[in-house]
Amino acid sequence: MNIQKPRGTEDIYYEKASELSALELILRDIVMQYNYHEIRTPIFEAKDLFVRAVGNETDIVTKEMFELLDKKEREFVLRPEATVPVIRSILEDKLYGKYELPLKLFYLGSMFRYERPQHGRLRQFNQFGVEVVGVKNYLLDVEVILLGYNLLKALGLSNLTLKLNYLAVGAERTKYIAVLKTFLKTQDLCADCAIRVKKNPLRVLDCKIDNKKFDQAPKIYDYLTESDQTEFNNLQNILTKLAIPFVLDHKLVRGLDYYTSLVFEVVVDKQERELTLLGGGRYDQLVNSFEPSLDYPAVGFALGLERLLLTLTENEIKLADEPYLDVYLICLSDHARYFASSLLLLLRGSGFRADCDYLSRSVKAQFKSLERLKAKNAIIIGDEELKKNVVKIKNQTTGKEQEVKFEKIITFLSKENK
Ligand code: HAM
Repeated sequence: MNIQKPRGTEDIYYEKASELSALELILRDIVMQYNYHEIRTPIFEAKDLFVRAVGNETDIVTKEMFELLDKKEREFVLRPEATVPVIRSILEDKLYGKYELPLKLFYLGSMFRYERPQHGRLRQFNQFGVEVVGVKNYLLDVEVILLGYNLLKALGLSNLTLKLNYLAVGAERTKYIAVLKTFLKTQDLCADCAIRVKKNPLRVLDCKIDNKKFDQAPKIYDYLTESDQTEFNNLQNILTKLAIPFVLDHKLVRGLDYYTSLVFEVVVDKQERELTLLGGGRYDQLVNSFEPSLDYPAVGFALGLERLLLTLTENEIKLADEPYLDVYLICLSDHARYFASSLLLLLRGSGFRADCDYLSRSVKAQFKSLERLKAKNAIIIGDEELKKNVVKIKNQTTGKEQEVKFEKIITFLSKENK
């Protein structure tokens, strides 16, 4: 029998699960400060949704989707990202008519991509993301960038770089692509890029093998319309005013086809290379491409939680509290063990973290567990004590031991734990 987890997936337990939960709590807290609302969409969606919206020449669609057939042979995929499902949900349930615009949504959940697993790259991973739908305003772009950048800073990361680019669309993009193709003809391209240059030339700039040689390529942000140029300038000016450092990266094109203007990433600098923690941008045509009568511009980003946790660990940043117990019960007899059940009920019902031994182990072994579990107090229950309706409570920090009446246990511990 195969008892191995699928390649590129992780079992998350104990310390790592605590770190992940703590991270999720912090993210929820921060995103609420910006007035975002949670959205949860299904883990699988119709395949066609992503083919249409992410782009049928992108790696995500052509190579990386986990595909499923249901009993009626309909094609589904495990969602590779959440922007498209969020837009699908907004359209299906007409959220734009029910809530204040812009819709400010966030999500936390698993995504699936059939990629070659490596450091920080999984086949099932968790994303935290935001999507702001219904308004085009560079100040909103600034808010989204600030949210992403500042939450990474708030977690204690410092070696971050915010990269910006601005993609031309329509006639300007066509013009740019012609110039880019002429430039690319002068370059020695890898096998993948030789194909990309025909199907999706912008993606060549993002070559994973060697994109240094495209430093001198024509820059897409030199081909913007006047109004886009103004938007991009305004955005840069305000980021500068807010003291948010950024670099312009004309090679930043992103792996999804729905972006229409601003694209950005935050990368963490490592010795040998950089790791992208979050990426996003503006996608003003996505709603319209599904529903031509609607014009709802949108902007958002997503952040990989596993990559972020990895980076936090590498920077020795811990988010979760050390696990501890308020009370561990030491039972000196079977009778005491019996009594322990009702005492645990009382303690837990009063908000204390409490536990006891269920292996009928010796008193010495129970004291060892007390240490291992880092309990703040031991409650020692013996037959003599039970006869007198008392227990002994030992404060593990001070070493002080006291006899306490049954009915006073909660009051006593509340004072001790203040
Ligand atoms: P993305 O760049 O494909 O964008 O993914 C966003 C983030 O998810 C990445 O920066 C990375 O941290 C994490 N990520 C992606 N693939 C993997 C993987 N295989 N293993 C671990 N982490 C991964 C999107 O998904 C867009 N939907 C973002 C967006 C939202 N754009 C606008 N709104």
